[in-house]
Amino acid sequence: MPLLLTKFASLAFLALSMASLILTTESTKPNGLGLGIFPRGKHHTQSQREFDYFALALQWPATYCRRSRHCCTSNACCRGSNAPAEFTIHGLWPDYNDGSWPSCCTNKRFNEKEISSLLGDLEKYWPSLSCGSPSTCHGGKGSFWGHEWEKHGTCSAPVTGDEYNYFSTVLNIYFKYNVSRVLSEAGYVASDSEKYPVGGIISAIQNAFHTTPLIVCKNGAIEELRLCFYKTFEPRDCVTQVNSENTVSSRNSCPKYVSLPAHASRGFDGAETKLPWIPAKEAIEEHESM
Ligand SMILES: *[C@@H]1O[C@H](CO)[C@@H](O)[C@H](O)[C@H]1NC(C)=O
Repeated sequence: MPLLLTKFASLAFLALSMASLILTTESTKPNGLGLGIFPRGKHHTQSQREFDYFALALQWPATYCRRSRHCCTSNACCRGSNAPAEFTIHGLWPDYNDGSWPSCCTNKRFNEKEISSLLGDLEKYWPSLSCGSPSTCHGGKGSFWGHEWEKHGTCSAPVTGDEYNYFSTVLNIYFKYNVSRVLSEAGYVASDSEKYPVGGIISAIQNAFHTTPLIVCKNGAIEELRLCFYKTFEPRDCVTQVNSENTVSSRNSCPKYVSLPAHASRGFDGAETKLPWIPAKEAIEEHESM
């Protein structure tokens, strides 16, 4: 009997670890487009408790842009010499300490007019890096900003308030914690030939901000870097205990030495392949598959 119980307990533990594994895998999905753990729609509004901490997700454009298959005006990868050359914002995501997160917390829809005074900064520091239209919380498709606000911003609302305040808060934190500067001052500059020790990159961030970031890679290149914050916006470590068991899908994990590719620009002349320009509407599938 005790043996059976032990067996049962270890099975239950296994099931639990598997569950958290799946969540972690989801949370490292590029673009945050993984299925939330909660079904979309009205019902879950009540069932989602308030989050524990924030993750500021930053994307390294050159890594994302390698995946662009099309060009369109909304894709910042296609801006030629004006393509972003430093970390840009992916989003500010509320998270739970157990590795899961709430999503689509209210029925508030994205309204670009509310953030019209921020559009200059948003185009520059929070650009879309694809032509696709990600899903909104209401069964439709929307802009990158609309997706981030509806999926994550509505859940941040107890701390960051309405749509305008969400976007301006994110910009302010992004300006305050300049990851690109910290890395370049430590010698980690964009390069198509160098490889850098991921431990050194993490130490540089730790020294500057007293927090351990989470780094996501794609084919050995840094794709995303996440900085985590308490709800007071004091830095804290990102939750990594499940990741460190290294049973997590290796798809998004980083090798010991990583690259920080230099060229974001696609669809223009230069060494990169020229990409076809298409109307944004036709590129929906591209974003969905990312
Ligand atoms: C980050 O720092 C770099 C180097 O000092 C600077 O060029 C860049 O404009 C800064 N980025 C932001 C978003 O403030």
